Amino acid sequence: MRDDNLQALHAPYADLLRAALDLATPAGARVAVDMGCGPGLKAGWLAGRMAAGGLLLGVDIDRAAVAAAARQRPGGWLVADARDMPMRAACAEICWCVAALDLFESPHLALSEARRMLCPGGTLVVAAATQLWARPRRWPAALYAAWAGQAMPSPADGLGDGMADSLVAAGFADVTLWAYLLDPPGIGLARAALPLAGWEWLAARLDGLLSPDERAACAEAEALATPDPLPLLLVAVGAAL
Ligand SMILES: C[S@@+](CC[C@H](N)C(=O)[O-])C[C@H]1O[C@@H](n2cnc3c(N)ncnc32)[C@H](O)[C@@H]1O
Repeated sequence: MRDDNLQALHAPYADLLRAALDLATPAGARVAVDMGCGPGLKAGWLAGRMAAGGLLLGVDIDRAAVAAAARQRPGGWLVADARDMPMRAACAEICWCVAALDLFESPHLALSEARRMLCPGGTLVVAAATQLWARPRRWPAALYAAWAGQAMPSPADGLGDGMADSLVAAGFADVTLWAYLLDPPGIGLARAALPLAGWEWLAARLDGLLSPDERAACAEAEALATPDPLPLLLVAVGAAL
């Protein structure tokens, strides 16, 4: 895909994607790998999470994309297959795989390579836009106000379980998954994530923060939620042990 096509495709969702990746990526890595980096359009985002002077290594199978990335910014830009990464074991603290995992011929082999490259305690971050059947809840405004400042919720209804399971199968621990509505764009992380969380899960964390009427309105929103095929952003993180 040409650089400008990819940029145009991701542009409406760039703020959400960047915020979701920032949230998922521990700060301060000295070495990070961007697997399936493409033309390096997100390299600045990853570099921004790293320690000053850290080494960013981008890997892609497409020679033209790697050349474009190398023109964008300094770093180590390598042409290679994600199934056979040209790095030694335990060399990186962060590995990103953004909008790429489901394009690899063997996602499992690529995840195993990510696991091999990461040092103990290192973090893999996988992000993918996808279309899934989901039940968005029309929460009352009071729920968003009460949730302000709390951690991003986990999705309900098994959304994204396939992605989380693939990280576990590749040997990652402490796997956490977030799901965000991609439409409408520009609503921010909490408003994109909360409609995909279930009332039972939220209610346990909002004890004392909502009135009985507001809780009843939330329970009604849960009961009325119906499934629709929706564009979603899934982000999973896993720890290498
Ligand atoms: C949709 S692009 C995403 C690029 C970049 N991560 C981004 O978000 O801007 C997917 C990239 O995966 C790369 N890719 C596909 N199969 C690959 C493989 N087996 N090994 C490495 N890269 C691969 C493609 O060449 C392409 O650049």
